[in-house]
Amino acid sequence: MRALSRKTKLRTVRNSDDVKRTAVVAGGAGFLGSHLCRKLLDLDYRVVCVDSFLTGQQRNISPLLRNHNFTLINSDIVDALPVEVHVDQVFNLACAASPPKYQEHPIHTMQTCVTGTHNLLRLAETNDARFLQASTSEVYGDPHVHPQPETYRGNVNPFGPRACYDEGKRAAEALCYDFKESLGVNVKVARIFNTYGPRMLADDGRVVSNFIVQALKGEPITIFGSGQQTRSFCYVDDLVEGLIRLMNSDETVAEPVNLGNPTEFTIVELAELVLQQTGSKSKMVKRKLPVDDPKQRRPDISRAEELLNWQPRVSLAQGLQSTIDYFAKQLGQTEAKRLEIA
Ligand SMILES: NC(=O)c1ccc[n+]([C@@H]2O[C@H](COP(=O)([O-])OP(=O)(O)OC[C@H]3O[C@@H](n4cnc5c(N)ncnc54)[C@H](O)[C@@H]3O)[C@@H](O)[C@H]2O)c1
Repeated sequence: MRALSRKTKLRTVRNSDDVKRTAVVAGGAGFLGSHLCRKLLDLDYRVVCVDSFLTGQQRNISPLLRNHNFTLINSDIVDALPVEVHVDQVFNLACAASPPKYQEHPIHTMQTCVTGTHNLLRLAETNDARFLQASTSEVYGDPHVHPQPETYRGNVNPFGPRACYDEGKRAAEALCYDFKESLGVNVKVARIFNTYGPRMLADDGRVVSNFIVQALKGEPITIFGSGQQTRSFCYVDDLVEGLIRLMNSDETVAEPVNLGNPTEFTIVELAELVLQQTGSKSKMVKRKLPVDDPKQRRPDISRAEELLNWQPRVSLAQGLQSTIDYFAKQLGQTEAKRLEIA
């Protein structure tokens, strides 16, 4: 177990017979990052998690600190990176992903996307390592093309409240390809669509966690707008599998790849499913739609199917069940108590 402050220098020497790969996971204490760290350790990687704990949680990675192949560096990627081990792969997942969180400090969000990504690309370049950028379906904005293929260039508002994230992520993609063209870095860009699962934060304003927590507490389910806007929800295990396949894909896989579940649901349908699976009697209440909220979202995943032989396996009903069980445990609810609330 190693937990280092950002001032700590870390050195390991790579032996010629050492076949273990070392991956840096920036944002490794967050929702997706912690699942990715765990999976990489299962695959016998050494993992260096870099996280500032802006939205990440110590409890997401506490069990990993017992693993001698896991190192935690508490650092902001906007600052100089104190990573001094040889690195084979750099996964950049560091960035708050929920709108209320990334809008709280919009300048820092943009700096994370641009300066932070630049620092991690430099790390990849100096180590001759592969680099994977966790981009987002938000690069398509409020799309005019449905479903969204990677060739669609998007409809993004460059100065709305979501711009620090949407445009930050677009700039990060551009930077990745500049490093590829100018410096030969082997970059991979995953455009991630809505992903959910255990270890999301209960209060971070994402729709799946919001609905589950409201239903479990017997509180009203807040529907923004008419609830007829659509989203496609990917379970975290499927997504992590896609990220690892993309990172290890052939050098010819260079263009962005959509990763998400193409089965589309309206927000009201999601709420109904959550109510049914929790057994909650919460009522739905309508609230005003936030500015620039996209009306439709569904990935065209033909590229991932063809290049990575990847498609999601977990249905929304299955994935919701394990997510509901996780939040019920977080809220200290037993089955009996849940039935009482319902
Ligand atoms: N979950 C999704 O549905 C989704 C969809 C599209 C894209 N993504 C992308 O995937 C990545 C992970 O998303 P998530 O859902 O796990 O979010 P998250 O907020 O749970 O995780 C982000 C992690 O990055 C850390 N972080 C943020 N800014 C940092 C900085 N400047 N320096 C160091 N650490 C920093 C946070 O502390 C946190 O641990 C993000 O880059 C996000 O944009 C996620």
